[in-house]
Amino acid sequence: MEQELKLKTHWKPQLTKVQFGVGCVFETHLPSLLEKEERKCVIVTDSNLEKLYGKELEKFDCKVFSFLAGEASKTRETKLMLEDHMLAHKFGRDSLVIGLGGGVVGDVSGYLAATYCRGVAHVQIPTSLLGMVDASIGGKTAVNTPYGKNMIGTFHPPREVWIDGSFLKTLPKSEWVNGFVEILKAGLIISPPLFQAMHEGVEKWDDLEFAMDRIYESVTIKRDVVEEDPKEEKGLRRVLNLGHTFGHAIETLEEFTIPHGVAVAIGILVSCFISVEMGLIGKDTCKEIEEVFKLYSIPLRLNKAHSIEDLMSLLALDKKALKASPRFVLLSGIGEVASFGGEYCSEVEFPLLEKALEWMNANFTN
Ligand SMILES: NC(=O)c1ccc[n+]([C@@H]2O[C@H](COP(=O)([O-])OP(=O)(O)OC[C@H]3O[C@@H](n4cnc5c(N)ncnc54)[C@H](O)[C@@H]3O)[C@@H](O)[C@H]2O)c1
Repeated sequence: MEQELKLKTHWKPQLTKVQFGVGCVFETHLPSLLEKEERKCVIVTDSNLEKLYGKELEKFDCKVFSFLAGEASKTRETKLMLEDHMLAHKFGRDSLVIGLGGGVVGDVSGYLAATYCRGVAHVQIPTSLLGMVDASIGGKTAVNTPYGKNMIGTFHPPREVWIDGSFLKTLPKSEWVNGFVEILKAGLIISPPLFQAMHEGVEKWDDLEFAMDRIYESVTIKRDVVEEDPKEEKGLRRVLNLGHTFGHAIETLEEFTIPHGVAVAIGILVSCFISVEMGLIGKDTCKEIEEVFKLYSIPLRLNKAHSIEDLMSLLALDKKALKASPRFVLLSGIGEVASFGGEYCSEVEFPLLEKALEWMNANFTN
């Protein structure tokens, strides 16, 4: 006899509390969490942050596990090493993993929390600008594999995110670019006022009040998009992908020798070029966007020209591709993504892609 029954899963909708401040992590949030929390807490960080903030962390009665700083550590092996440390120190289901670091620590600690004892609580303390405006928001966790970036991971939203501007005081200048590009992207897809504030405020980034306002606005934009489409099942979350289709391909073609932010900035400009060619925006808009990237000293340079064959084979792997045909997020204005029947991305004719690549090679190659 054939039988069938249905089982309802009751995943709790989860709320992430995001708090903003300056100096709030070590002064208030961490001491008060460690005092009140009944779970056993562990802080996961990287070697750079441990050097800078280790003394501060020693003041707390909490285990600290760290791994070598950098993207090369965002692997299954690092996660396994952390899991073994946790197991050896008898962390159980009642654990809370606190990730203190940039996007790499956020992704690794989040994925660790997602699967440790079938899932434990996670708190994120993003310390890089990119971590604050992008990586800590939205619940994506992942590690890289030799086959590609972020290939293994899951959605595991943190319980809390503490964005503390004082960490920016030690962030190397070279790391700011990645965050600037994401903030500019947030303005370009949804918020002309944010883009304008960035345009006019390039000199103001030493002022933490100005920085915190822009960070808050960017997080609000990502929050609004992610809330509408938490698991990337509808079209809306695609708008966050502006510049990333070309950007990811460029990053791979340049063998990860250029910063992610630079690849995305060039990707955004290629999307603008295509948008101009498709009559969606005027050339002056494209020029204005390039000028703002230049104001932020984003080094818009590639090491070499790339071929259409190499590019196409990578574009076909993009998550928005349909049957290996790439689709691009395009702009219809500053603060406005072009909607193609609510899809927010479009296929682009091959000759136009070739032309866009030629334009990119001619404009951004050393
Ligand atoms: N989960 C997501 O939604 C999401 C979104 C965007 C990016 N990411 C991931 O984020 C990662 C990139 O993040 P990132 O740019 O922060 O890289 P990162 O974590 O490697 O940090 C960059 C460098 O800055 C150092 N650093 C960070 N904060 C510092 C501080 N306050 N003072 C001194 N040094 C500091 C780090 O030690 C590291 O050397 C990538 O792996 C990317 O895939 C994830």
